[in-house]
Amino acid sequence: MEYKFPDGFLWGSATSAHQVEGGNFNDWTEWEHANSERLAAEAARRHAKTHMRIPDYILERYPNPLQPENYISGKACDHYNRYEQDFDIAKSLGQNAHRFSIEWSRIEPEEGKFSEAEIEHYRKVILALRQRGLEPFVTLWHWTNPTWFAKRSGWLNKDSPKYFERYVNKITLSLEDVKVNFWITLNEPEVYVGASYFSGQWPPQKSSLISGIKVYQNLIKAHQLVYKKIHQISGNSLVGTAKNNSFYEPFSDYLLDRLVVRLNHYLRNEWFLNKIKNYQDFIGLNYYFHDRVKFSLTLKSPGGIFVRNKNKNESINNLGWEIYPEGIYRVLKDLKKYDKPIYITENGLADANDEKRAKFIKEHLRWVHKVIQEGVDVRGYLYWSLLDNFEWDKGFWPRFGLVEVDYKTTERRIRSSAYEYAKICKNNALEI
Ligand code: FCB
Repeated sequence: MEYKFPDGFLWGSATSAHQVEGGNFNDWTEWEHANSERLAAEAARRHAKTHMRIPDYILERYPNPLQPENYISGKACDHYNRYEQDFDIAKSLGQNAHRFSIEWSRIEPEEGKFSEAEIEHYRKVILALRQRGLEPFVTLWHWTNPTWFAKRSGWLNKDSPKYFERYVNKITLSLEDVKVNFWITLNEPEVYVGASYFSGQWPPQKSSLISGIKVYQNLIKAHQLVYKKIHQISGNSLVGTAKNNSFYEPFSDYLLDRLVVRLNHYLRNEWFLNKIKNYQDFIGLNYYFHDRVKFSLTLKSPGGIFVRNKNKNESINNLGWEIYPEGIYRVLKDLKKYDKPIYITENGLADANDEKRAKFIKEHLRWVHKVIQEGVDVRGYLYWSLLDNFEWDKGFWPRFGLVEVDYKTTERRIRSSAYEYAKICKNNALEI
């Protein structure tokens, strides 16, 4: 059976600066150096418990979760120097779009001082994509901050939206000549607020509801400001965010279970999008999670607020995240109410042995196709990620790439699932 996608559908993959470039210096870099030993020791403690043993196929690779160097981004995939070869690979795999991010700390390493050399670097990156027929989706902020900004309380500072606007102003003016069609202002604002200001896992490791709300409001404001700014500078560009929406489902019919579904859906899926609904030309969707939830009195839990996760987990990835393709359909159906074109700006899995990736992609795309047939305006799919990369506080061991990276040599090896995905990209159709 062949499932055709609409003409002009965009096919590609995504990365973010800090996760692939190497040689960055930002608030995460500082945090990694301060926390790598702790993170490795925590992994060792978990590994010592029989039911949490890290499987051999993960321990055999370099770096593994027990090694402190796993948690230091360092030279990462050296994509900063190897982007041309990496884009050659993307092109050879039939892709016609690519999402990457500009690293704010490179552009503005000191407050108000911009690096023309780094701007030039990203101009070359955009041109390299265009030369290969890859449409650039340019993210302006993918979680990392310049150290001067972090020292001024980062996104808690009431002037943070202004600082961000100044950087975006500089970038969009400077890159006006290369005409970026798709700007993504912020990546997953609610995930950042949750992990950095609410659960206290990521830098700056705050654990305060009030701070979290303030940061959220500043991010909303920042998006609104730069939405206007980008339109003033280059009227024809399209501006959106990359929003992580999950499919929430109640564990039972009990009122409380249904209520926590509503609450989490509202706070995590809708809040930000409602606030920016008059300031977006498209919606970027990052889909990873399905949460079948039961009410619980614990405020903070992995699946959301006041929930206990009751997923069946019939199939999981290397991080233990459930694989639930139907969820992408449910989430997309729900996004139809915003009446904007939708691009899937991330969807993928950690799968070191490449056992489930091809099936994962095909099953998700089968649901994407169905939702398009039912009238939802989805215009592109960007797999996360082109390359194995630095997965934040988990470090390098989770392998999300279509392309495997050997972190000792930075050599690339195309996985077999990448060829399966390439067939879909080249035919603009899924065959199953
Ligand atoms: C998303 C992030 C991305 C990557 C994937 C696995 O939440 O945007 O950087 O870490 O998860």
